[in-house]
Formats: sequence, C-alpha cells, structure tokens
Amino acid sequence: MNILVTGGAGFIGSHVVKSLLEHGHKVSVIDNMVHGNSSNLPDEVNIYKYDISEAEIENAFKIERPEVVIHNAAQISVADSVKDPLYDAKVNVLGSINILEMCRKYAVRKVIYPASAAIFGEPKYLPIDEKHPLNMISSYGVSKHTVEHYLNVYKKLYNINYTVLRYSNVYGPGQDSSGEGGVVSIFAEKLTKGEPLCIYGNGNQIRDFVYVKDVTEANILALNSLDNDIYNVSTNTKTTINDLAKLMCEAYGKEVEIMHKGERAGDIFESYMSYDKIYNACGWKPKYDLKLGIKETIQSF
Ligand SMILES: NC(=O)c1ccc[n+]([C@@H]2O[C@H](COP(=O)([O-])OP(=O)(O)OC[C@H]3O[C@@H](n4cnc5c(N)ncnc54)[C@H](O)[C@@H]3O)[C@@H](O)[C@H]2O)c1
Repeated sequence: MNILVTGGAGFIGSHVVKSLLEHGHKVSVIDNMVHGNSSNLPDEVNIYKYDISEAEIENAFKIERPEVVIHNAAQISVADSVKDPLYDAKVNVLGSINILEMCRKYAVRKVIYPASAAIFGEPKYLPIDEKHPLNMISSYGVSKHTVEHYLNVYKKLYNINYTVLRYSNVYGPGQDSSGEGGVVSIFAEKLTKGEPLCIYGNGNQIRDFVYVKDVTEANILALNSLDNDIYNVSTNTKTTINDLAKLMCEAYGKEVEIMHKGERAGDIFESYMSYDKIYNACGWKPKYDLKLGIKETIQSF
C-alpha cells in the first residue's frame, strides 16, 4: 500500500513509518521538522519538508498519490496551545483541513488520525470509554477534537474513510525529553545522568502509559479495518507517577533523589482509558506492560 505519514519524523510518526516499511508498504512523509528529525527515518522514505498548513503540500500528494494518509503532524504542546491558540489552530485545525482537502483532490481512500485524552478534562467516570463526555480545558484539546468532526464530515461529503485513535500517554524510544516531553523520557534522561527526579504534587496522580509499539500496531490494523469510528488506544492500567519513578529507578538499578514541587495548574488527577472497543473490533490489546516498555525505552538512551 502507498502511505503518506504527516509528522512522520516525530516520535510516534517515525515508529509508525518504520513499522509500515517492515510490513512491506511504500511510505512517504510530510514534516516541517519543527519537532521531528529526518535522521529518525530510513533513506528509502521520501521526505517533504513542508508545513501542513501551506499550499506546497500538494506537491507531495501529486507525486506520491497515497492510498492512505496517517495524519500525525500537530502542534503537541498543551501549554503552548494556551499561550498561542492562533498558532495551535493554524497547525492543528487549518493544517488538518489542508491535508483533508488534498485527500479529497487526490482521492485518498482513508485517513488515520491520532486524537488525544486531552479532550476529557477531569473524568466523570473511569475508565474513560469512547462515550465519555468531552470537557476540553485547553486549546490543544479543542483543536485536536475539532479534526474528529471534519473527518466525519469528509466521510459524509466525499466518502473518505477515517479511523480516530485516541491515545492515552504514549511513551517509548525517541520521545523528546525536553520541555513538555513525556514523563518516561524525562525520568530516563535524569536517571541516565544520575540527576534527581522532579514530581509535581504528591505523585499519586494516575496515568495510563501505552507503549509506542502497541500504538504503532493499532495504526497497522487501522489500514484495513476500524473504518469510520473512534477507538481508545490505551492499557486501562493505573500507574501513579510515584509507581513510575520507583519502576524506573529499579530498571536503572539507581537510587536518585525524588524532589516534589507544587501541583501544576490544569493537571488532571486521575486518567485511564478502556480499550474494550478496539479489542472487540479487531483483537488489539497492549502487548507491552510498563516494565517491559521501560526496559526497551531505557536501552535506547
Ligand atoms: N505523545 C502522546 O502521548 C500523544 C497522545 C495523544 C495523541 N498524540 C498525537 O500523536 C501525534 C504525534 O505526536 P508525537 O508525540 O509523536 O509528537 P512529535 O512532536 O514528536 O511529532 C509531531 C511531528 O509533527 C511535525 N509537525 C509539527 N507541526 C508541523 C507542521 N505545521 N507541518 C508539518 N509537520 C509538523 C513535527 O516536526 C513532528 O515531527 C500528534 O498528532 C499528537 O497530537 C500524541
């Protein structure tokens, strides 16, 4: 299959690209490299260094003629989305519409779209399922969710199929450990250097960590199934940040100081998501528990 991955030089995108190649697909990438790195990608991948919100992306569609688009490119920082909602909307909303317009023009069969748990706010019940009411508390949550509506409209108007995959907290090799990077990669970097770990609040916040290879597997399954619906991709496993710090110290065989700082405004206390729907639809379930995922992640550091 001929597949175009936007944001394919980023953390999740580059794992998806490598797995698609392993499955024998032809893959091309659009990524403006604001956060990605082309050295993450094998030479056989055609890379178009374009901004998804600009007209130049048409060149990539004209040349590559993809059958499926996996649309990963996004402004991913919640804090930046609050500081600069216009930029967030330009990339995440207008950029996505720009991609969808090209999908229409070049008769793309299907779009696979990663959505986010940032759309739920503080959960009303747990585990969060796909019917959970939405309560966005950041511009990022709004912009990521808005695209779910556009996908539905492009299906109705132009018969472009879609799958929305709502990820919980994705972690794994290659994740950014600076700024707002995932907590697993931030802890891994600190442990590698023997520096203290910093936990905001008391560390009893609950998260649902899903390994990037499990996320990739869900993308592969969505190429030929899961059409025109929304699925959580998660582990339904509760892990506190204190548990995570302990597990990672054990994995490194290191004792480092744990510093507690004040709670961060807007941090959700408890979030984990059910994956029953995707399991019932196609048998997907996470293969990696946190211990194994952490082991592989720290080997990459
Ligand atoms: N990491 C998570 O836990 C998580 C959870 C839920 C959803 N997601 C979604 O998964 C996708 C990938 O996230 P990630 O964690 O791999 O982030 P990432 O920043 O590593 O990847 C995003 C990629 O998009 C590219 N990009 C950004 N703006 C662009 C633009 N205007 N034009 C072209 N390319 C652009 C970046 O250079 C980067 O390579 C995003 O859509 C994100 O919203 C991630």
